[in-house]
Parts: sequence; C-alpha cells; structure tokens
Amino acid sequence: MPRAIQISAFGGPEVLQCVDLPVGEPGPGQVRIRHHACGLNFIDVYQRTGLYQNPLPLVLGMEGAGIVEAVGEGVAHLQAGDRVAYAAGTPGAYSEVRVMPATQVVQLPDGIDFETGAAMMLKGLTAQYLLRKTLPVEGLQPGDWVLFHAAAGGVGLIACQWAKALGLRLIGTAGGPAKCQLALQHGAAAMIDYTREDFVARVKDITGGRGVKVVYDSVGRDTFDGSLACLRPFGLLACFGNSSGPVPPFAIGTLAAKGSLYLTRATLFTHIATRERTQEMADELFDVVASGEVKIRIDQRYALEDVAEAHRALEARRTTGSTVLLP
Ligand SMILES: NC(=O)c1ccc[n+]([C@@H]2O[C@H](COP(=O)([O-])OP(=O)(O)OC[C@H]3O[C@@H](n4cnc5c(N)ncnc54)[C@H](OP(=O)(O)O)[C@@H]3O)[C@@H](O)[C@H]2O)c1
Repeated sequence: MPRAIQISAFGGPEVLQCVDLPVGEPGPGQVRIRHHACGLNFIDVYQRTGLYQNPLPLVLGMEGAGIVEAVGEGVAHLQAGDRVAYAAGTPGAYSEVRVMPATQVVQLPDGIDFETGAAMMLKGLTAQYLLRKTLPVEGLQPGDWVLFHAAAGGVGLIACQWAKALGLRLIGTAGGPAKCQLALQHGAAAMIDYTREDFVARVKDITGGRGVKVVYDSVGRDTFDGSLACLRPFGLLACFGNSSGPVPPFAIGTLAAKGSLYLTRATLFTHIATRERTQEMADELFDVVASGEVKIRIDQRYALEDVAEAHRALEARRTTGSTVLLP
C-alpha cells in the first residue's frame, strides 16, 4: 500500500505520522499521480499547527511533481504517462500516490526535472501573481523600488530573480549575513538583515527618504507595522503569510494617516481557481525558468519519512531556497 504523511491532531512536528493508505481510482475531473518529489511549504506548518484548519485526519502537502497513472472522466488535458507538476488547493502531496482534482495539474516541460517541478510550482506561481498581478494603483515600472521580506526563502529567492528580470529594484530582508549575501547573488538590489538592523530606517535611507511602492510581506506579526511605514503615499502592502504569527486586527485609519495606502491579504488559491488561469501562470513561470532568468534552488532534500526534520528546519529559519521531500 502506498505511504503518506498524515496528521490526526494539530501540533508540533511530532504529529506527522508515516502511514499506509489505500488510493482508489480517480473520479470525474480527477487524476491519480505517482509522486517523484513533493515540495515543502510554510503553509504545511500552518496546516499542521491548526492555524489553518482542515478536517482530520489529513495528509499534508500542497505541491508535487510526478507521473499521471490514471485520469477520471472529463479530464481532457492530461493522460496516463504524462509528466506533471502542481500547486494545489487541496492537501495530500506528502504521499507516494494521490488522487486529486485535475484543475491545477499542468504538464511539466521536458527540460524541467521532477525535483525542480516540485520545488517551483507553489512558490513560483506565488512570485508570479505577486509581482505581475498584485500591483499598486500607479502600476509598477522598471526602476521602481519594492520591499520583499524573507528574500532568501523559497518564494523569496524566486521573487528576487523575477523582480530583477522585470527591471524592479527589490530591497530584501533576511535573517543574517549569509542569507543577505545569497539574495544579493540572486538579484536583490539591496539587502537588510532585519534581525540586526531597523529595516524601516534602512528602506528610507536606500530610497532617498521616499519609501517603496509595494511591500510584499509574508512574515506577518513581526513586520506588519514596519512594512506600512516603508510605503510611499498610495503604496500597497501585500500581506501573504504569517511565518512569525498572524497580524492582529488593526485600525484602518492608519492607512489614511500614512498616505492613502492600500492593503491586501492575498492568496495563490484565488489566482489558480480555474484551469485556464493556472495554465497561463504556469506558462509564464516555465518561460522565465527556461530562459535562465529564474533559477530554482533546492537547498534541502529529505526522504519523505523524515518530514518532521524538514518542518523543524523550516520553522527554525534554518532553510534557504526550496526544500523537497523524496518519496
Ligand atoms: N498567500 C500565498 O499565496 C502564499 C503562497 C506561498 C507562500 N506564502 C507564504 O510565503 C512565506 C514564504 O513561504 P516559503 O514556503 O517560501 O517559506 P520560506 O520563506 O522558505 O521560509 C520562511 C522564512 O520566513 C522567515 N521568518 C521570519 N520570521 C520567522 C519566524 N518567526 N519563524 C519562521 N520563519 C520566519 C525566515 O527567513 P529569515 O530567517 O530570512 O527571516 C524563514 O526562512 C510564508 O509565510 C508562506 O506562508 C504565501
């Protein structure tokens, strides 16, 4: 029977259990995929702890790559034997084999191996919608300054490279000099070690006192106030994560006081709700990877059954770039 990593209670990494689970035939609109690699994402931590609640028991994992074994009725864009990859709204990627909706599954181009596919879909599609679709009211032009927190992470290193390809000047934050150096090597225009430096003061300094047009903030609680303070008038704060904890409720009058600011709390899953849109975004991602403008860095690899170690490393800020789990 195929193995999967399941939780039966919310909690620490110790709740991740390797179990044998039967996998049936795909129903209408579904595919069965045999994974060659699965991606590790911070959302897996939120789902494990219960910050994001799903019914239990639950097989975690939102990103994977492998081969289609069978397709259900009505699935026209895939067939058995196809090499595929996905970022999915439905957990279940921490497994050898899974059945899932076909909507978010796309063909993996020949030049991209399975590990890279599993390392790039959720994080790369996120970088895509952030930089290409989550725009300030004045738009983004080459030369504009943006601030991207956790720039040496999985989403972060892809965003650094993609922003550079778009001509944006990305100021990144990261914990420690080695991470700052890594992000600079991947296209960040400037880096701030926010564990030692006041990032608001440094952003003001770097931008000649003006501030940035957009802040992309996945850190949440620890950076939210500072992120608002880094924006120029009419700027956009795009919140998209909670790695330090969720942002507490706040008074919207703050947005007026700081210069008619805009605030969004974005999620990939709105963007990839349809097959057409998913394919469009994936094509753009595959193009920047094929052109060499964006390289996917896999800095950590774990056997699927060692997933608890992978979660500990991610939560302890010991990872850079992407992490893959190998079934
Ligand atoms: N909304 C969406 O559509 C969407 C999609 C994908 C990802 N995300 C979010 O984007 C973020 C990045 O995801 P990822 O999977 O690529 O993870 P990651 O960036 O590789 O890892 C998270 C990073 O956050 C930073 N961080 C800051 N404070 C932290 C804390 N208290 N605890 C742990 N980490 C902290 C750490 O970098 P430093 O040491 O450099 O601070 C850490 O390495 C996550 O918040 C994730 O939830 C959102």
